[in-house]
Amino acid sequence: MRLSFGTISIPEKSKKLIHDILDSGRITSGKYVREIEEKFADLIGTKYAVAVSSGSDADALALAALHDFGASRGDEVIVPALSFAATGNAVLQAGFKPVFVDIERETLNIASSEIENAITRKTRAIMPVHLMGKPADMETINRIAKKHGIVVVEDAAEAYGTEYKGKRAGRLGDMGAFSLYAAHVITAIEGGMIVTDNKDYAEVLRSLRSHGRACKCEKCVLNISSGHCKKRFQFRTDIRFIFERIGYSSKMNELEAAIALGQLEMYDRIIKKRRRNLLYLMKEFVQFAPLLLTLREESYEKIGPHAFPIIIQEASNIDRDEFVDYLGKKGIDSRSLFSSMPTQCAGFEFLGYKMGDFPNAEYIGDNGLHIGIHQGIDREGLDYFLKTVKDFLSSLVKRSISV
Ligand SMILES: Cc1ncc(COP(=O)(O)O)c(C=O)c1O
Repeated sequence: MRLSFGTISIPEKSKKLIHDILDSGRITSGKYVREIEEKFADLIGTKYAVAVSSGSDADALALAALHDFGASRGDEVIVPALSFAATGNAVLQAGFKPVFVDIERETLNIASSEIENAITRKTRAIMPVHLMGKPADMETINRIAKKHGIVVVEDAAEAYGTEYKGKRAGRLGDMGAFSLYAAHVITAIEGGMIVTDNKDYAEVLRSLRSHGRACKCEKCVLNISSGHCKKRFQFRTDIRFIFERIGYSSKMNELEAAIALGQLEMYDRIIKKRRRNLLYLMKEFVQFAPLLLTLREESYEKIGPHAFPIIIQEASNIDRDEFVDYLGKKGIDSRSLFSSMPTQCAGFEFLGYKMGDFPNAEYIGDNGLHIGIHQGIDREGLDYFLKTVKDFLSSLVKRSISV
């Protein structure tokens, strides 16, 4: 049997839209990008959604928007030490300095009790990550942010289906950044989305994704057949060549929007199946405690079914790479559970952190892994995974007896 990490199916609706788009002559950002923005905003429950070309850019642009609201280059953004490197990269790409805070091993999320120690005069934002779909401690984070007058940008790349105290991830702070990469629940193959209730942020984000130009209409008013834009000369100079801020080239195109629009129609079905898979594994995995643990769901939250994390416990003496190799030989694909960005990712070395500064993030970096729970995996596959883990643990016991 083979259990793949991810799956992708291109719905018929997307295929039809792609044909129409290719025939229409409007392939760059247009009406389908607008449509996915509207539908995405409805899905999360925000007033605005701004489509960009990746989840990494969604993180970076959400932060870069803060330069229009009093932030300066070199100011600080607080992020968890453990995440996919895109989170830390985005802070630097937006012109800020990342200030890392360790995580909690049990939740994999930023240790909210340590955030205030990291706040300085230069702190402009906190960017919690809902890692593996587990919501961060947003009540504490929002309280701290309010007290210090700083912004909260959720890295919700992995948080489709995540709920916290009755609200969907993405609308738990000031802005939420999603990834529409192929491995995620809604995909555009490559893509990202920033959601917010703040009209001013949305306007700046639309400018940022298009080189920082003054052109930032919510709905493009360009007449496609004539090529005429009635706003083009509203400031006398051609609006497309007025650059108001340092921008990015990060627009979503129509073909990507078409893929995402088809996917969105399958959203409820996909989430339901993935949640069923996640809950089944969480329940059954208890048999491997205290050697192997996963996340626990609290009554006030729903963990978004992104993937299934596994944390090898110290007392087990299990070597992560040996375990991963065993799973791989049995056809079960897995990924490490990321690493401590400041101390285990070479790119961040210049910031001057040293090994041991983030013991929990580093522990997960050495001892964490995750497997897919996507809609293409059924009960038989999950049982096969559980049996494989059981066999692995038995093989270790046998080995220790024979030594
Ligand atoms: C937590 C987190 N943030 C950001 C990203 C970046 O998203 P993308 O791959 O779409 O750039 C990812 C990607 O998976 C992620 O897991």
